[in-house]
Amino acid sequence: MSAVNAAVIGLGVISAAHINAIKSYGANLVAVCDIKEEQMSGYSCAKYTDYRELLKREDIDIVHICTPHYLHAQMTIDCANAGKHVLVEKPAATKAEQLLKMIENKNGKKVCVCFQNRYNNATVMAKDMLAKKTYGNVLGVCALVPWYRNDAYYTNSDWRGRIAKEGGCLLVNQAIHTIDLMQYLVGDVESVKAHVDNYTHPGTIEGEDTATAAFYYASGIVGMFFATNCYNSGSTIQIEIKCESATLKLTEKGLFIDDDLTIENIKAHLGKSYFGNAHTALIHELYDEILFGSGSSLPIEEALPACRIIEAMYESSDKKQRVRITG
Ligand SMILES: NC(=O)c1ccc[n+]([C@@H]2O[C@H](COP(=O)([O-])OP(=O)(O)OC[C@H]3O[C@@H](n4cnc5c(N)ncnc54)[C@H](O)[C@@H]3O)[C@@H](O)[C@H]2O)c1
Repeated sequence: MSAVNAAVIGLGVISAAHINAIKSYGANLVAVCDIKEEQMSGYSCAKYTDYRELLKREDIDIVHICTPHYLHAQMTIDCANAGKHVLVEKPAATKAEQLLKMIENKNGKKVCVCFQNRYNNATVMAKDMLAKKTYGNVLGVCALVPWYRNDAYYTNSDWRGRIAKEGGCLLVNQAIHTIDLMQYLVGDVESVKAHVDNYTHPGTIEGEDTATAAFYYASGIVGMFFATNCYNSGSTIQIEIKCESATLKLTEKGLFIDDDLTIENIKAHLGKSYFGNAHTALIHELYDEILFGSGSSLPIEEALPACRIIEAMYESSDKKQRVRITG
């Protein structure tokens, strides 16, 4: 193979980040698919309104799935069964059971999840420092997602805010990157105690717009988590990790060590700043892997821990008790 041939299913908000990375790699965008023809009007490649027709093409190496959440599992399985590599947007699935089915049905293909924030400079540097215990053991973690979504964000969409289609609300959509990083950077979470609520979107969304939780790590430490879509604007996400001899703080800006900005994230050129620019890094690494066998892009198995933590958070909130994470 001399070049990667890619296709994208779902041409809404996030698709531009994927298509930008496909093009900047020098790969070919051979086909796009959306149930709404108007979403495809700007593209000169082949266009499909039914993804199953697109999958009949033999010239596609990889499919990017950028559709609403409830479609991810079946589309991923269909793509892999059609012999295509897959990059599926987060959440790869909203139930661990679905994820396990997707893992079982990889059909020998690369099936990856788009947790692009793992590729931010701040994350890469912090991960390395924490693995090497540069500042000693981790003593505590505190994560904040102080965001805002107005009612129109939900009412203008046919899937956001609806449990059957979004699979939850704030946790599975906005907060999942932070939850993933809390376990990716700090380690296994054994149990959670959480509360989810709907404070400012009653009548508009079926799920939560706010969540608080304690994460009980296998290491014995406790991580605190607060996320909301009810603030007055989208403010800075941060994950603060207290180590024995320094405090690391990851924000959209970069990594701070004891309040000194130590490495900056690459700024987003497309879309909202909090998407970061790391879609490009993730997708380029995945394409290197497809072409040359190098790299270690994110296999879908990596989606399991955050998915299980979120499932446990919902269960904990329902039962009003601490819930052990199984599996
Ligand atoms: N990684 C990130 O930071 C990030 C950021 C934003 C969104 N996302 C994720 O990307 C995915 C898409 O989100 P979005 O904001 O672009 O949504 P969107 O609603 O803007 O776009 C979804 C598109 O999918 C199309 N679609 C729906 N059903 C389809 C089908 N059966 N076949 C083909 N196309 C279909 C819709 O017509 C729409 O154009 C979601 O999983 C979301 O959580 C990830």
